[in-house]
This record gives sequence, structure tokens and C-alpha cells, in this order.
Amino acid sequence: MFLHLLYLILPLLILPLPISAQLHTLALQAGKKYFGTATDNPELTNTAYVSQLGNKTDFGQLTPTNSMKWDATEPSRGTFTFSGGDAIVAQAQKAGQLIRGHNCVWHQQLPSWVTSGNFDNATLASIVQNHCSTLVGHYKGEILSWDVINDRINEHTLPEPFNDDGTFRTSVFFTTMGTSFIPIALRTARAADPAAKLYINDFNIESSGPKSTALISLVKSLKTQGVPIDGIGVQTHLIVGEVPSSFQATLQAYADLGVEVAITELDIRMTLPATQALLEQQQRDYQTVISACKNVQGCVGVTIWDWTDKFSWVPGTFAGQGAACPWDENFVKKLAYQGIVAGWTN
Ligand code: G3I
Repeated sequence: MFLHLLYLILPLLILPLPISAQLHTLALQAGKKYFGTATDNPELTNTAYVSQLGNKTDFGQLTPTNSMKWDATEPSRGTFTFSGGDAIVAQAQKAGQLIRGHNCVWHQQLPSWVTSGNFDNATLASIVQNHCSTLVGHYKGEILSWDVINDRINEHTLPEPFNDDGTFRTSVFFTTMGTSFIPIALRTARAADPAAKLYINDFNIESSGPKSTALISLVKSLKTQGVPIDGIGVQTHLIVGEVPSSFQATLQAYADLGVEVAITELDIRMTLPATQALLEQQQRDYQTVISACKNVQGCVGVTIWDWTDKFSWVPGTFAGQGAACPWDENFVKKLAYQGIVAGWTN
């Protein structure tokens, strides 16, 4: 009997231990809450994709790319549909992954009844309240963090009302409500799910400059007013070879406000075709980004904006660019994957 047992146990002792050097596992070892990825509903029909998506050693957290946004969840006033978001929550829960809610209030992907309704301030305020309350309430207890306010903070807080090209910035919320939609949305989200961490999530805030300064003042002012704000989401849509030199210092400046910081939408795009030199630079860039999060105590986790080039948003938005993710279109790991491993471990 004892010999039988020995025969069973011995190979286990001799065989190498299972490889655990994977992205989420390493993030946990670095003291973070997760390494995760965005995903979208159409992708869930691809079996090979779903198999890797549910690999918890790489991904401990999911963010729905599109299906919790306003156009998907409240396509007509007061009528809510949660089927897309629910499917991603179910997928994450099946794999034991954390979930980021994305998002409550954003100037994009709004249904026309919001943008063209000509609502007055009080009516739009009640629309924002109802949307955030119903959306966040629907997922109460299931969401680690919510991107309550998403994108383009400078539209709402910087004095100049112009885009880079000189045209007026347009946001139905700011135009109608001034900055008041920000505390309204945050307070509403807190009431709807007191356990969720509430974030402002923005892009082009990866380096010090006017936008990060505006964001810092906004968060300070919200805290002074007692508005609930728990975190800053740094989207981190970058270009190969252009990780800002002040990236880590900027994350630290946010953390110094006493809020969490998360890298929420990481990808690092290049001009195609992807050459060996570009892929090697991309590996170094991914490492730089991950080690910045590792080194800043208040940085709680990193989410990539999908894990495979097959489903990246980049080629559809930036003509001639792509290859931004750590896995290629055939689900093969790129050098970028090793860059992330090195970022967590070095
Ligand atoms: O749903 C329609 C579908 O009915 C239609 O057939 C199809 C035809 O083009 O379009 C579908 O909508 C697309 C939607 O994604 C869902 O796939 C939109 O055209 C497309 O513009 C939209 O793009 C998303 C983009 O946000 C919108 O601005 C990307 O997938 C998504 O990755 C991207 O994510 C944003 C974050 O939410 C916020 N931060 C920036 C980031 C990148 O832009």
C-alpha cells in the first residue's frame, strides 16, 4: 500500500512544479489586486479566445469594453438592458475574476435621446442620477471598481473651451450642467453600491502637464467637498517608444492624493508592419509601464485593453497602426508578454 502511494507521489515530487509565472499570479506576488483584460461580447463566441480569457493565472480581472456603456444599457429613456454586461459578468464570475464597471458617464457612445434631448440642467441631472443609480445598482456587490466619470476631464475643468484644432469641445453634460454632473454621478454611484471603488478614468494623463494638473485639482476639490472619489484610472493608450519619462512620477502624484490608481486600458500601438525592432521596443515599453505600477504602492492593478491584436480597437481607429496587445492575432504571445513578466518581477 505504502509502495503504491510512493509510486503515485514520487513523480509529482520529481516533475517540475507547474509554471506559475503568469501575469495575474505575478501581479498578486507584487502586492497588487489584479492583472486583467478588457473583453467584448462578440468575442465570447470564439472558443479559443474564451479559453484564454478564463485563464485566471494571466487574468484576474475583466472590464467590459462596450456593453455597460450608456448606448448599450439605456438605449431609450428609462428602458434598461443589461444582457451584454450580464454576459461578461457571468463569464468573469465563472472564472473567479474581479470585474471593473465601465462606465456611467461619458460623452461618447451616448444614445441620441441624451445628446439631442435639449434637456435643462435639472432634467439632465435627474437623467444622470437615474442612469448611474440603475446601472450601478443592477450590479451591486459584483463590481470591484466603477469608472463613474470617463474621459476628457479637461473639457470640464480646464478654462479653455477649445479642442486642439480650435473647434469648441462638445459634451452635453458640461454644456448643460457645468461640472455639477461629476459630484452628482459620484454620489449616486456611492449610494447605489457602497462597496464599489469609484473612479475618474481618463486618457492622456500619463505624464505631467496641464491635463494631469487639472485632474489633480479636480480630485482635491472633490475630496474637500466630501464627494466620494476612490481612484484615478489612467487609461494608458500609448505608442511604442513613447512611454512618458514622467509616467511613474505621475502615477505617484495621483496616489499622493490619497486615492487608488489603476492602469485601466493599457495598450501600446505601433505603425505596421510590426518589425522585430518594434516588437522589442514594445517589450521594453510594457516592462516600463508595469514596473511603474509595481513601484507605486497606490497602484492597485493593470488592465490591458483586450489581450489579442485580433480584437484590438486600434486598427479601426488609427489607420495603419496596430499590434498593440501582448498576444498577436493568432493568440500567440509576443515579446510584450515577457515585458510584462519582467515588469512584475524585476
Ligand atoms: O454596436 C455597433 C454595431 O451595431 C455596428 O454594427 C458596428 C458597425 O461599426 O458598430 C458597433 O459599434 C461599435 C462599438 O465599438 C461596439 O463594437 C462602434 O462603431 C465603435 O466606435 C465602438 O468602439 C469602441 C470605442 O471605445 C468607442 O469610442 C471600442 O470598441 C472601445 O474599445 C473603445 O474604448 C474606449 C474606452 O471605452 C474609453 N477610453 C478610450 C477607449 C478607446 O477609444
